[in-house]
Amino acid sequence: MNGPWVEKYRPQKLEDVVGQKHIIERLEKYVNEESMPNLMFTGPAGVGKTTSALALVKSVLGEYWRQNFLELNASDARGIETVRTNIKEFCRLKPVGTPFRIVFLDEVDNMTKDAQHALRREMEMYTKTVSFILSCNYSSKIIDPIQSRTAIFRFTPIKSEDIVNRLEYIAKEENFEYELPAIESIVYFAEGDMRKSINILQASASEGEKITEDSLYDVISKAKPKDITDMITKALSGDFMGARNLLREVMVLQGTSGEDMVNQIYQEISKRAFEDKMSSEVYIDLIESLAQTDFRIREGANPRIQLEALLAQFL
Ligand SMILES: Nc1ncnc2c1ncn2[C@@H]1O[C@H](COP(=O)(O)OP(=O)(O)OP(=O)(O)O)[C@@H](O)[C@H]1O
Ligand SMILES: [Mg+2]
Repeated sequence: MNGPWVEKYRPQKLEDVVGQKHIIERLEKYVNEESMPNLMFTGPAGVGKTTSALALVKSVLGEYWRQNFLELNASDARGIETVRTNIKEFCRLKPVGTPFRIVFLDEVDNMTKDAQHALRREMEMYTKTVSFILSCNYSSKIIDPIQSRTAIFRFTPIKSEDIVNRLEYIAKEENFEYELPAIESIVYFAEGDMRKSINILQASASEGEKITEDSLYDVISKAKPKDITDMITKALSGDFMGARNLLREVMVLQGTSGEDMVNQIYQEISKRAFEDKMSSEVYIDLIESLAQTDFRIREGANPRIQLEALLAQFL
């Protein structure tokens, strides 16, 4: 199947990055001006931080990007030694064929504080000839002196419709037929994470010729949203046994875990409250019970008993 689709379909140009419009516009300005400050990309996983950084580097540095670019990702050593050796050596050399060089450090939140301080000194020493692009999930884990020396770009989860379009595009390129509800379910589970969406798509595609809801649920072992909806409707309308049987089916036959059930119930009731199909008083009560179930399951209680008790409270 030609390797992972996430790599095959990683956008190479800034203009091809899906969503993140405000960010891409600002980055394109740096390309036009042929200069850029130190940058920090923050935000959740799989939304285009590394992708945008690589596309930016190629545009800004043009044909000489390879010679003037150092990339260190999380799998490399992240201690102070890396900063003192690899980064320092790279920064010392003059740019070749470009106005400056670029260091790209992925997942900086995994660097030790000492290493971050050493990094900050390198950033100061070479302001004229080296620009840094730092990427992380949580900017709060980055020391203040680095935060204040970078322009911060906050990446957001990708909109459902944008992910749907992208997945449809990939399925067509790969010559897979698909059912739209299957694609929509993938997007529902991926919660704005494009990498996760594409990975689930590829896994479901390997099951057969067509991407269907069944092939999808075979690979992700989560409950079908419709089952969760029905189960909650039954519990809220007093049909405890009906709700309990659905719970059993989803957990025992489909193998959905207790944690996943809690999350899916949470998503479903939040959706109802958000769409005004449930009063906020009822919602508050349900969330309170759900929080207790969540806690007990995490502490090691039997998930099925806890979830049945939860359904009883929903009555
Ligand atoms: N905005 C996007 N547009 C198109 N494809 C995307 C986008 N974001 C992510 N992808 C897809 O997901 C893959 C992973 O994205 P990327 O490496 O940019 O994520 P990231 O934001 O750096 O995540 P992490 O925080 O885990 O490092 C890409 O190779 C690409 O296939
Ligand atoms: Mg990344």
